Amino acid sequence: MNRRFFLFFLAVGLFVIGSVKAQTKVKKEVSFDKKVEILLKKMTLEEKVGQLNQYNGFWDVTGPTPKEGLAAKKYEDLKKGLVGSMLNVKGVKDVRALQKIAVEQTRLGIPLLFGFDVIHGYKTISPIPLAESASWDMDAIQKSAEMAADEASSVGINWTFAPMVDVSRDARWGRVMEGAGEDSYLGSRIAVARVKGFQGDLSSNKNILACAKHFAGYAFAESGKDYNSVDLGESTLQNVVFPPFKASLDAGVRTFMNSFNELNGIPATGNPYLQREVLKGDWKFKGFVVSDWGSIQEMKAHGFAKDDKQAAEIAINAGSDMDMESSAYVDYLAQLVHEGKVKETTVDDAVRRILRVKFELGLFDNPYKYCDEARELATVGKQEFQNEVLDMAKKSIVLLKNNNDVLPLKKSGQKIALIGALANDKTSPLGSWRIAADENTAVSVLEGLQAYKDNQLTYAKGADVALGSPKFILETKINTTDKSGFEEAITTAKKADVVILVLGEYGLQSGEGRSRADLGLPGVQQELLEAIYKVNSNIVLVLNNGRPLAIPWAEEHIPAIVEAWQLGTQSGNAIAQVLYGDYNPSGKLPMTFPRNVAQVPIYYNYKSTGRPIMNEPDSVFWSHYIDEKNTPLYPFGFGLSYSKFEYSNLKLSSQSFSKNGKIEVSVLVKNSGKVKGKEVVQLYIRDLIASITRPVLELKGFEMIELKPNETKRVTFEINEKTIEFFTANRKWEAETGDFKVFIGGNSVETLKGEFQFVK
Ligand code: BGC
Repeated sequence: MNRRFFLFFLAVGLFVIGSVKAQTKVKKEVSFDKKVEILLKKMTLEEKVGQLNQYNGFWDVTGPTPKEGLAAKKYEDLKKGLVGSMLNVKGVKDVRALQKIAVEQTRLGIPLLFGFDVIHGYKTISPIPLAESASWDMDAIQKSAEMAADEASSVGINWTFAPMVDVSRDARWGRVMEGAGEDSYLGSRIAVARVKGFQGDLSSNKNILACAKHFAGYAFAESGKDYNSVDLGESTLQNVVFPPFKASLDAGVRTFMNSFNELNGIPATGNPYLQREVLKGDWKFKGFVVSDWGSIQEMKAHGFAKDDKQAAEIAINAGSDMDMESSAYVDYLAQLVHEGKVKETTVDDAVRRILRVKFELGLFDNPYKYCDEARELATVGKQEFQNEVLDMAKKSIVLLKNNNDVLPLKKSGQKIALIGALANDKTSPLGSWRIAADENTAVSVLEGLQAYKDNQLTYAKGADVALGSPKFILETKINTTDKSGFEEAITTAKKADVVILVLGEYGLQSGEGRSRADLGLPGVQQELLEAIYKVNSNIVLVLNNGRPLAIPWAEEHIPAIVEAWQLGTQSGNAIAQVLYGDYNPSGKLPMTFPRNVAQVPIYYNYKSTGRPIMNEPDSVFWSHYIDEKNTPLYPFGFGLSYSKFEYSNLKLSSQSFSKNGKIEVSVLVKNSGKVKGKEVVQLYIRDLIASITRPVLELKGFEMIELKPNETKRVTFEINEKTIEFFTANRKWEAETGDFKVFIGGNSVETLKGEFQFVK
């Protein structure tokens, strides 16, 4: 066939396939809606309310039937069709047993949703989300979520309470470990990758529902204290907090979770502005909103509802569709409808949203879609997952300092002293969301380094980070007294060519409810570091932590520092491969590291004050501290490599663009180092004068490139109206004309600069 004909037929073919696909999608949507309506008509008010009720796992189905107390009530409710979803039930056997009750014993046989916090893996644990975000590698992040969905779905789970897309600027807040860091652009890109990874094709039994949480403002808790009040102006809410939520929605996320905090005086759970006006109104969200754990009844403690009944009324009217573990809906909603305080149509709307998702998941066709014992057996913890989490872990590591090329380590003839309790810890790397993973299943740094046999490796603990063995729900005491291991560690260090110190936070020191007032190395670890330094300064400090730390002494004295976060099941192997140069580090910080906890919240995209710089020598009257620098210890976007990247020749295709136009900005990046390496090239802009003040810098694009030694590449970014849009004084997203600066570099500080204009 002649080429032109071929192309013509190909185009027609693709068009036909495309439109058939689109029509099938529309048909499916319509048929879901129809099915929902048919079912809804058959439901009693009580059954409708039941769909809005989510219970925490209450019954070990392999054990006896609960006979008394709350468990018995929940069990009876389940049999009466008064439960729409369960959380924290895992394992095909249990899921199947409970699903069977819902499907076979209730009047309408509506299947349950099974939710679980699959935050960074189920049994095979990936790096904590903050660490994954440091990879800036969207494909890897998406793959990690896909893998987590695959593993979790094999044990019966069909819904994860992830991704957490809260933009977080305050390292004191323990949950920064669960998010993508401080930037809304990076956070939005990561949110999309995670949503796509979890949800993929919902008709497959390898994908599960995702949940964008916590809507909204949770990370802005005053003083970094978890659950604390949040007071946020509209500009920050719209320009900073909302974008990753909106991006999740645009990527098709089916559920949202609201949050524990109050926002400007109104608890998020009972907040109609957030849930009705923005989410379901402006954004036209078609999925459903689940409350956070007990957050409906917590409105009593907030001083916003006098009892559970009023809390239920406020929450449903504000747009919270499903009640997680408060029992307020199941106990009071029907009554509230009878009393005219809640319209039945409001309940109907929530039920429709939930049923629709159940239809979409295919649960009505096969309620046991996720219940396949053989698949469960073959899937959980399989080797392929181990390889994937190892890959993700390597990509998540950030090299913060490497003076005198201490790293990579020589592979033979070296005496290496490995020091620190975390170096021999097989649980801490699993982080605080390891709820389904088994203790002691991570590869420790000690084990990882043992694979390199041609060096002599000696281990000494030095000091425990925590006293006693940390448990998920119990507070653990930090070791501030026991230094009995110092001596052995010092002796070991004295004899070594290189000392690797693994220090930081134990696994449960970050996460929910784990805010910290001190961002230094916990307990006696700083003392240990200084004591070792006195006898051998050739130190590689490997940090294990769930948040940015303030470690100015280490930055000043220690020649090599590696940020290794909590890297999950394959942690030790990933760290060893980076230390030995078998993987060239490519991570970049998704959150600013402060010098001092008092600088927090410190973030790269701050606003300029009226007095941003010292105008005269020794002037006092400018925005600064008299006892600390303004600058961070390590800036956002920062991370070194064993290669060396040089930026030059920033070019703009034009000095200005107008409506529907664009310009291109590009730079040359050269690898002037000795090894092949990856670099994340970052694009920032600054809008100089605007109707609402704009940040001094805003990330607007990035690209990861790989360069061989001496290789040079030109990296080009497009700038258009979308790039410069923000929520303006007109209270809408739009581009304002004016002057802009553009910056490109390998982090948010060391950049090449240019200028452009957006004109009418
Ligand atoms: C957390 C949520 C989580 C839920 C269910 C809450 O305490 O804030 O993020 O999904 O528990 O476990």
